[in-house]
Amino acid sequence: MQVFKVADQAEGGQKAYELLREAINGGAKTFGLATGSTPVTFYENVVNSDLDFSDKTSINLDEYVGLDGANDQSYRYFMNEHLFNFKPFKENFLPNGKASNLDEEVKRYDGVIDAHPIDFQILGIGGNGHIGFNEPGTSFDVTTHVVDLAPETIAANARFFENESDVPRQAISMGIASILKSKQIVLLAFGKAKAEAVKGMLEGPVTTDCPASVLQNHANVTVIADKEAASLIK
Ligand code: PGA
Repeated sequence: MQVFKVADQAEGGQKAYELLREAINGGAKTFGLATGSTPVTFYENVVNSDLDFSDKTSINLDEYVGLDGANDQSYRYFMNEHLFNFKPFKENFLPNGKASNLDEEVKRYDGVIDAHPIDFQILGIGGNGHIGFNEPGTSFDVTTHVVDLAPETIAANARFFENESDVPRQAISMGIASILKSKQIVLLAFGKAKAEAVKGMLEGPVTTDCPASVLQNHANVTVIADKEAASLIK
């Protein structure tokens, strides 16, 4: 894995944007997208650029079960606010958190990913090493699935909700096997809370205890970490 240490999240977002630009110049057409605080500066750079996505496809990593796109905590809403309202794509795929049959929805989403192989995937990382919502202990072989969120993930995401009890307990997430099919992966990590997970990802054994460690098995991963997130790596 290639590692770029950057001063802060602003520089990290700029760097990720430059990699995206290169990928597009190289012919990338399908983009795996992430939500959360981490990719916000990346999206700012994209929105302020002259890049045109009208012939491009996006596929998001995950969505909360139970929230529809009009809910301001849904990931569909986040994506509209941070990217899609400013940069229209040919098509935007996210899991449907309000699907009445979650088994069918999971299958539908696997079909979406199979039909649109991802050229460039943006990832964040959880303090517990999760990627997407693939929590520690998740098999590396699973594709899209319904996840019970780990207590630490619920606690970490509570900052976006009025009460911790409002945080959905489940999500639909692309699986690790789906993520590994992406041609190129760019993982962003900012802040001290990510330092242990970044160390485990880069220097630890490949283990489901730290889901991001599986990225050691992928041929084209770039990690962009600020000083704090990189503080424990050699
Ligand atoms: P964050 O989440 O960007 O909100 O820190 C990242 C993640 O959990 O993947």
